[in-house]
Amino acid sequence: MLLYRSAAWFAKGLREYTKSGYESASKDFVPDDLEVQVPGRAFMVTGGNSGIGKATAMEIAKRGGTVHLVCRDHSRAEGARAEIIRESGNQNIFLHIVDLSVPKSIWKFVENFKQEHTLNVLINNAGCMVNKRELTEDGLEKNFATNTLGVYVLTTALIPVLEKEHDPRVITVSSGGMLVQKLNIDDLQSERTAFDGTMVYAQNKGIFPAQESNLCLSCLLHWQAGSLPLAPPGKRQ
Ligand SMILES: NC(=O)c1ccc[n+]([C@@H]2O[C@H](COP(=O)([O-])OP(=O)(O)OC[C@H]3O[C@@H](n4cnc5c(N)ncnc54)[C@H](OP(=O)(O)O)[C@@H]3O)[C@@H](O)[C@H]2O)c1
Repeated sequence: MLLYRSAAWFAKGLREYTKSGYESASKDFVPDDLEVQVPGRAFMVTGGNSGIGKATAMEIAKRGGTVHLVCRDHSRAEGARAEIIRESGNQNIFLHIVDLSVPKSIWKFVENFKQEHTLNVLINNAGCMVNKRELTEDGLEKNFATNTLGVYVLTTALIPVLEKEHDPRVITVSSGGMLVQKLNIDDLQSERTAFDGTMVYAQNKGIFPAQESNLCLSCLLHWQAGSLPLAPPGKRQ
């Protein structure tokens, strides 16, 4: 970890990303801002069957929004959906089974989704930290495939759907880890150095904040033009 990145973590990370950071920021929360109702708006929450994603989906459901849970495991996802419906009383909770580490599945999902649904807000919440180097069925390193490429493919595919609606938003959950690492665009598959899942995750999470997005988009577009299985079904040899 570079010295200045360690310093950034201590200066910014501890102040803004930890429990004490939350407690400090929450002093400026305006209670009325939190009293929002969202009937008529549709939200997609990836990884909505557990943790932050489930809590987010629950709050949206309680506030009257339509929720699309995008999850990879059917039984975990069904359990979460049932709990959200039971606790919120909101029946407009839809489930879509998609493995976000598989670009072709994402394209196929969006192709079907847009025939039947509208979307106002995409919340890219799903994430993973796989500590041993693992490859997906497409031969992609799993952390990168899920945390970076999957987010990029899903967001890109959904932009035309979001653009049709009023006040569309995309929210991507990052991590304080992004402060300590920068994406190594010369080794996106983490093949060239000893594999460290925590550091790979931190690299993956640094890609979407605005200050780095130009670099990231250009590197991913470069990949898109290359040999990755990114094209929508039917458009790839
Ligand atoms: N908790 C923290 O302290 C913390 C700190 C910084 C950032 N974050 C970020 O916050 C987000 C939510 O994390 P969490 O703490 O709530 O963890 P979590 O409970 O483990 O939630 C992660 C979710 O992502 C899903 N997921 C992982 N890989 C997937 C894939 N290939 N396709 C579809 N879904 C997939 C998981 O599904 P399964 O249930 O099937 O595994 C799970 O629903 C993540 O992006 C994480 O990086 C968390």
